[in-house]
Amino acid sequence: MNDAVITAFAKRLRTARHVTVLTGAGISAESGIPTFRDAQTGLWSHFDPEELASPAGFARNPALVWRWYAERRVKACAAQPNPAHYALAELAQRVPQLTLITQNIDGLHQRAGSPDVIELHGSLHRARCMADGSVHTTWDYDEELPLCPDCGALLRPDVVWFGEMLPRVALETAWAATLDCDVFMSIGTSGVVEPAASLPRVALGRDATVLILNLEQTTAARPPLFTINGKAGEVLPQLVAAAFGA
Ligand code: OAD
Repeated sequence: MNDAVITAFAKRLRTARHVTVLTGAGISAESGIPTFRDAQTGLWSHFDPEELASPAGFARNPALVWRWYAERRVKACAAQPNPAHYALAELAQRVPQLTLITQNIDGLHQRAGSPDVIELHGSLHRARCMADGSVHTTWDYDEELPLCPDCGALLRPDVVWFGEMLPRVALETAWAATLDCDVFMSIGTSGVVEPAASLPRVALGRDATVLILNLEQTTAARPPLFTINGKAGEVLPQLVAAAFGA
């Protein structure tokens, strides 16, 4: 069943002008990084998001929040990009234009070689000064409460927390790419958080061909909407090979 959909979608990819791709935690699952909403292994099954991922939680206990993000950063650094990340980096070289939007903060797309990744939820690999908003890519990782190297104020992880706005430029770029693309791919995201929930629908409304790739069963679809149930690390390399050769 998947094979027929892969063949049909690969054919469409060959003539694509602008491919916009949205990824979520599912694309990094095969790299050993937990997703958010899996009932057994998901990040939120072990931790209270309000305590660990909100401005109020950080104000109450910054050391606890920093410990959690430090641990996630170390795990992300130890993880390796998987074949799904590499397939998207390859795809970017095969189509005239590709915009890669991710909700992930692990940096694995960049390490797989994808250029210009739009990070909607920030990055584990950056910290931001609470006083002046300056952004830092290195800081004292051993400090329980890392301080700004410029002004000495407290740093915070440069990620989006519950109740916060998404970074404006990233969001605007994501919308513009969704409105402009003729092929849209949503990969490994539950699509329950905005704007991930809306982007595929908006692309469909603009007559783009849309693929939803997810491990979980999704509803049957017909062109211009395609759905594939499978592992991103298996399906995406097949798709790129079917479209452009191995
Ligand atoms: P979720 O945990 O909500 O969803 C991950 C999706 O990936 C699920 O639908 C899984 O079925 C699917 N999945 C798992 N393994 C897969 C695989 N190998 N191949 C393909 N699909 C797979 O994660 P997100 O949708 O990324 O925000 O969550 C969105 C946002 O919600 C996160 O960025 C986070 C959270 O609140 C913030 O922290 C701001």
